[in-house]
Amino acid sequence: MPYRNTLQGTDLLSMRQFERTDLEDIFDHVQKATKRSRKESLRILDGRILVSAFYQNSTRTRLSHESAMLRLGGRVTGFADPASTRAGDYFQESLGDIATMLSNYGDVIVIRHPQTGAANEFAAHAEIPVINAGDGWGEHPTQALADLYTAREHHGGLQGTTWALSGDLRMRTMRSVMLGLRHYGCTFLMVHPDEMSPDPELVRELRSSGCDVQRMASLEEALPLSDVAYLEPVVQPDYAVGRDLPPDTKPCTPPAYKVTRGLLEQAVRPDLLVLHSLPRQDELSTDVDPTPHNGYWREAASGVHVKMVLLERMLWS
Ligand code: CP
Repeated sequence: MPYRNTLQGTDLLSMRQFERTDLEDIFDHVQKATKRSRKESLRILDGRILVSAFYQNSTRTRLSHESAMLRLGGRVTGFADPASTRAGDYFQESLGDIATMLSNYGDVIVIRHPQTGAANEFAAHAEIPVINAGDGWGEHPTQALADLYTAREHHGGLQGTTWALSGDLRMRTMRSVMLGLRHYGCTFLMVHPDEMSPDPELVRELRSSGCDVQRMASLEEALPLSDVAYLEPVVQPDYAVGRDLPPDTKPCTPPAYKVTRGLLEQAVRPDLLVLHSLPRQDELSTDVDPTPHNGYWREAASGVHVKMVLLERMLWS
């Protein structure tokens, strides 16, 4: 059978672009990539350049893409703050113009933007492949690929797994995770405040793909039935003043949406995997970190390998 690489020369904008066979193929390659020594000096993308275009803050996504490119022997350039570009000053340079410009500066662009749909708009103007590193409430496909890979490794597969999804289910990470899992006949136990309900159209789509979707009142109720707990905050910081908030205004997540070691010591499955895209608030207690349920640090490690495989396949020549 001829080698199938559906990513070659394409954009990576949404989990919708992947069939189950594409996901399994990527995950198989990531599994092989994790066997490489960190000290191995790779020249796979020697001479290729990754351009970061981050219009919104990031710790993990930007640095893991850049780390992946550097580990493959490539180079990186770009910006982590739009205020340092003409997009952030009087001229408010358009996404289209910046996409056209950046296409001259590298071989792949990784964009994060607060506006839903910005990555698609950017890709429509770019002349090189574009990776969506998070667009507003839209999607975060590279995060979802790392989450799904981590759960697949932990449980030996994703088919028929039960996921407790807790927090703000409108978030881009949640949307991308659900879109990826729709190929695997999963059960979703959703724990969220009313105002953080998932997109009803997405829920309909999940059900028509053969997934079971139920709402539950608390994680205490959902966790004993779950293979994976995927968490997001329900209390979001005010990003404009976050660092200056006095201690008494720190987030205080209601118990229904919190995972603590005490909760995990109750009737959960011994192989329950806890994932969180991070950064966390108090919905995920640090006392979970030393337990075998902690999948979020494993995801952070495998996330670099996922991005190495994606870059290698997108820039295949
Ligand atoms: N998970 C995630 O997207 O983290 P960053 O915002 O730090 O990139």
